[in-house]
This record gives sequence, C-alpha cells and structure tokens, in this order.
Amino acid sequence: MKKFTAVFAASLMASTLASADPVDDTLVVNGDLEIVTRTEAPAAVADVMDEVISGWHFRGVETRAMQADDFDNPGMIFVEQAEDVWNTADGSEGKSCADCHGASEEMAGVRPVYPKWNEDAGEVRTLEMQINDCRENRMGADKWKYTGGDMVNMTALLASVSRGMPMNVAIDGPAQSTWEAGEELYYTRFGQLELACANCHEDNYGNMIRADHLSQGQTNGFPVYRLKNTKLNAVHARFKGCVRDTRAETFAPGSPEFIALELYVASRGNGLSVEGPSVRN
Ligand code: HEC
Ligand code: HEC
Repeated sequence: MKKFTAVFAASLMASTLASADPVDDTLVVNGDLEIVTRTEAPAAVADVMDEVISGWHFRGVETRAMQADDFDNPGMIFVEQAEDVWNTADGSEGKSCADCHGASEEMAGVRPVYPKWNEDAGEVRTLEMQINDCRENRMGADKWKYTGGDMVNMTALLASVSRGMPMNVAIDGPAQSTWEAGEELYYTRFGQLELACANCHEDNYGNMIRADHLSQGQTNGFPVYRLKNTKLNAVHARFKGCVRDTRAETFAPGSPEFIALELYVASRGNGLSVEGPSVRN
C-alpha cells in the first residue's frame, strides 16, 4: 500500500510540464455575458495562491467553446426542464415556486451567497437544503433526493439566472465554525493514497493526472454538465467522486461534512463568476 502511494504520488508530481499552465482565454457567454474566470485570490486563500482560476481554463478548446453559447451547452436543456417545474404547482398547498418567488429571474443573486447561514433554522444551508425546506414546509411536497435529477436541474436554473455574478459566500459570524470544519477537511489526507483535496487542487493544479488537467477544484461552475456521464453533476457528487478516488470511504451527499466542505471550497472561489451550468469532461 505504502509503495503504491509513493509511486502514485511520484507520478502525480512528475507528470507536469507539457500543459502546466491553465489556458489563456476569455469566456463570454452568448456574445455578451462576460464571465470572470480568473481573479485575485480572496482572503481565505491569499496566503497560498495569488490567483483563483475557474475549472473552465483547464478544459480543452471544444469543451470550453460549448460553454460560450447556450445552444451548444448541453446543461441548458435541464435548465429549461427546471423552468417548467418552477412554474408547476406541487404538494398539498397547491403552490408552485413561482407563486411565492415570482419569475425565476427574480432569484438572481441567490446562488452566489450559498451555502449561507439561516438564522431561523440556526444552520448553514446549501441551496439544495433550502429548496427541500420550501418543498416540505411551504409546499407540502416530498423532498427531492439531494443529488437527484429534479434537484440538480433546479440548482442549474438558479445558477443560470446568476451567471456572471461573483461568488460571495460569507464565512464570518455564525458561519465561521462550519467554515473552519470545512477547512480542516480540505487539508485532511484521505484513503489509501493519503491525499487531501489540497494535495491535488492547491499543490498540483495545472499538472496532469491520469490524462486529466488538474484544476483548483472550484465550485463556481456547478452544477456541471460532464461529457463523461452526459448529465448534470451536483457539487456533493463531485466531492464524493474525488474522495473515492483516494480510495477512502466517502461522506454522503448532504452530510454535515460535505456541507462544511462546500462552504469552505466556495469561499476559495469568492470573486469568480457563477458559471453554472458549466461544461467539463
Ligand atoms: C409558499 C411559498 C413558497 C414556495 C411555494 C416556495 N418557496 Fe422558496 N422560500 C419561501 C420563503 C418564505 C423563503 C425565505 C425562507 C427563509 O429565509 O427561511 C424562501 C426561500 C427560498 C430560497 C432562498 C432565497 C434566499 O435569498 O436565500 C430559495 C433558493 C428558494 N426559496 C427556492 C424555492 C424553490 C426552488 C421552490 C419550488 C420548488 C420554492 N422555493 C417554493 C417561500 C416559498
Ligand atoms: C487525486 C487527486 C484529487 C484529489 C485528492 C481531489 N480531487 Fe477534486 N478533482 C480531481 C480531478 C482529476 C478533477 C477533474 C479535473 C479538474 O477539474 O481538476 C477534479 C475535479 C474537482 C472539482 C470540479 C472542478 C470543476 O471546475 O469542474 C471539484 C469541485 C473538486 N475536484 C473538489 C475536490 C475536493 C473538495 C476534494 C477533497 C475532498 C478533492 N477534489 C480531492 C482530482 C482530485
């Protein structure tokens, strides 16, 4: 096991050079929506990196192009499906999301500040938790599965109406202890490979790993349409995959650990534009 770890770590560190840098390019969606894909590092990471960079810069030319036009972005089909759901009544109260919130565009500005402290509930809530709270307690409807199709589609709709706005999660005040728990997880070495998130996404972004160009592991592009599984992928599903790749037992989507980790990782990307639904491989 030790030997394998050493070999893996060595190949991870050595396989650099060819494409060590993120691609120099700019993202403008539909010819007019400018997306901030690299910017000065926010306070949370200023001591370890100068600049934060969207995962978009680490993808190939065709994948990047798909995100520049909504007709070419396969994630937008799911946004349209969620728009129908937004306007359809469900549950014992006979209400739709739109009945209380108005047009989906009214939710512009919500995605960038989640996960967010909810004073009444006394907890940090992800977008998924807030949506299920509305379904259960305001609509009298069944909760959606945390990373299921209805849920991820709805988060794509909420992201799409905030595209171009800077991520801006709050990490102080009552959210601070959750943020600290997330930071600790980010630097914890998991699994047989004994790798922390930071070993790949902080120490080695830009390097190649198993033919994949390692990014900073930012969450501003979520949910992400992956060409690999041809569907939208939720943030916690991605975390789960990354932890599993270290050969560790992973946490469940929606678990306190992943909620804390999401807040912390989101804070590492404060200032990057909301991009969801983005396209990745
Ligand atoms: C009966 C009215 C009602 C319905 C229907 C409803 N919501 Fe809400 N929603 C609220 C209220 C009230 C809040 C503020 C709750 C709070 O802050 O605790 C809220 C908050 C939210 C927020 C967080 C907004 C923010 O600024 O932080 C999101 C996201 C949201 N709802 C999504 C949805 C979605 C998606 C649906 C449909 C599946 C839905 N809601 C249906 C009443 C409703
Ligand atoms: C063994 C290396 C490795 C480790 C450890 C790792 N990841 Fe990843 N991660 C990857 C690879 C490879 C990808 C796909 C390419 C990319 O975007 O970096 C990825 C992608 C991601 C993405 C998607 C980025 C985007 O723009 O689509 C996020 C978010 C992420 N990782 C978060 C994490 C978190 C949080 C942890 C710790 C729990 C973690 N990763 C641990 C290798 C790793």
